[in-house]
Amino acid sequence: MSEQAPDLGFIHRFSPGRDDSRKPLLLLHGTGGDENDLIPLGQRLSAAAALLSPRGKVLENGMPRYFRRLAEGQFDLDDFSTRTDELAAFVAAARKAYRLPPPIAVGLSNGANIAWSMLLRNPKLLGGAILMRAMMPFDPRPLPDLDGIPILILAGSNDPLIPVDQAALLAALLGEAGADVTYEVVYGGHGLTGDDLSLAGSWLAKNG
Ligand code: MLT
Repeated sequence: MSEQAPDLGFIHRFSPGRDDSRKPLLLLHGTGGDENDLIPLGQRLSAAAALLSPRGKVLENGMPRYFRRLAEGQFDLDDFSTRTDELAAFVAAARKAYRLPPPIAVGLSNGANIAWSMLLRNPKLLGGAILMRAMMPFDPRPLPDLDGIPILILAGSNDPLIPVDQAALLAALLGEAGADVTYEVVYGGHGLTGDDLSLAGSWLAKNG
C-alpha cells in the first residue's frame, strides 16, 4: 500500500496492481465508511488488480459520505451533481498520477449511488461498475450513451433501506442508456452476503 499518496483532492489509498491485464478497482464505501473499508473486498474480488479507494468528503453526524442527503433516500440534488463532478475530477487525476486505465467502480450503497452518477455524467471515465445496494430516487433522463459498458447491479431482496423496485429501475435505466447490465437480486438485506461476493467475483473474472 502506498504510504505517501499524493494529494489529489481526496484522502485515499492506492495499491498498485500486480497484473496489468486486470482492470483497476475504484472502491467507494457506504455511509460511515472510509478509504480502508472496501480494501479487503477489493483484494478478494480481484487479487492482482490495482485498488484506488477515496474517502467521501461530506460528513453526516461525523459519518463520511460522497454527497449530502436531505433524508434517507432523498438526495440533495445540487450537492449530488457537484460532488459527482468533484469525485470524477479526482478519478481523472488519479488515473494520470498512477497511470491507470478506466477503473471498474465497486460501490456500496452511498458509494454505488455516486458511481452510477459518475457513469451518467462522465461515461468515459469508468471501465464498468459493480453497484451494490444502489438506489434510483429520481428520473435522471436525458440519458447519455453508455455504449456497452459492463455493469453489475446487486440488490438485496429484503433491503429495508432500498426497495428492490428502485434497483430494478436503475437496471432498466442503465440498460436503456446502452450499458451491458447484469441485474441480480440476492436473498438478504442492506448488508453484503456470500452470494454478493460470489456473483461479483464471477462477473469480475469476465469483465475485470
Ligand atoms: C444514499 O444516501 O446514498 C442512500 O440513502 C444510501 C445510504 O447511504 O444509506
